[in-house]
Amino acid sequence: MKSIGVFDSGVGGLTVVKELIRQLPNENIVYFGDTARVPYGIKSRETVIRFSIENILFLLKQDVKLICVACNTASSFALPVIKNYFRAPIIGVITPGVREAVYASQNKRIGVIGTKGTIKSRTYEMEIKQLDPKAKVVTASCPLFVPFVEEGWLSGEVVLSVVKSYLKPLKDAGVDTVILGCTHYPLLKPVIQQVLGKDVILIDSAKQVACEVKKILASEDLFNRGKGGKNVFYVSDNPEWFSGLAQRFLGSPLRNVKKVNNV
Ligand code: DGL
Repeated sequence: MKSIGVFDSGVGGLTVVKELIRQLPNENIVYFGDTARVPYGIKSRETVIRFSIENILFLLKQDVKLICVACNTASSFALPVIKNYFRAPIIGVITPGVREAVYASQNKRIGVIGTKGTIKSRTYEMEIKQLDPKAKVVTASCPLFVPFVEEGWLSGEVVLSVVKSYLKPLKDAGVDTVILGCTHYPLLKPVIQQVLGKDVILIDSAKQVACEVKKILASEDLFNRGKGGKNVFYVSDNPEWFSGLAQRFLGSPLRNVKKVNNV
């Protein structure tokens, strides 16, 4: 039975895996976390494209039928360039979030937060404008959010003051919808909501990504017929670190994470 391949720069893509398991419990998943080269968020476009191609080639060797790029930085920089190089369908995390945000926003002022790379790529802005040319898009990179989440700093005075400072331009612009454009940011949802106010809609694309995967499997008749999917997790370094953080992102502990030398 072929699997769904998922890759991320590290552990954050497990938020997408969690949703895939929930919506598609009979599918097998092969996950690759590039923990030897994380973070991608501060790397150049060329480097992120090269890493993404290598990760996809690794997943294709695991006999996958579809690839999900769970990393927002990789989806922003690499996907527009490499998508058509491969025969397997490749889904990123940008378009599903953009669709939901454009649909949800009433005042057509949409905020996007992400890593430095994601914001610099302007992929979100371009995709939003394509769907709604009148939308005003306000973006902000939030480079401290990833280390906060990985260190378990999800609330408290320091976190609150950094969130306030990063989100000020979005608040000043009066956005009514904000895309959480990074794997880690959904874990900071409570404090982001507190800063932006309860009426602002926060878009966490994992759910929409899983819906998109489901749609493609249905349209290409690729569903697994068996019951109960099997999941395999690979990393390029430090499986212990990855397993330790998995609980936070996946909601359940992970044993048996395998280290591979694909790079
Ligand atoms: N996975 C990355 C993203 O969603 C965040 C971590 C990193 O910078 O590699 O953009």
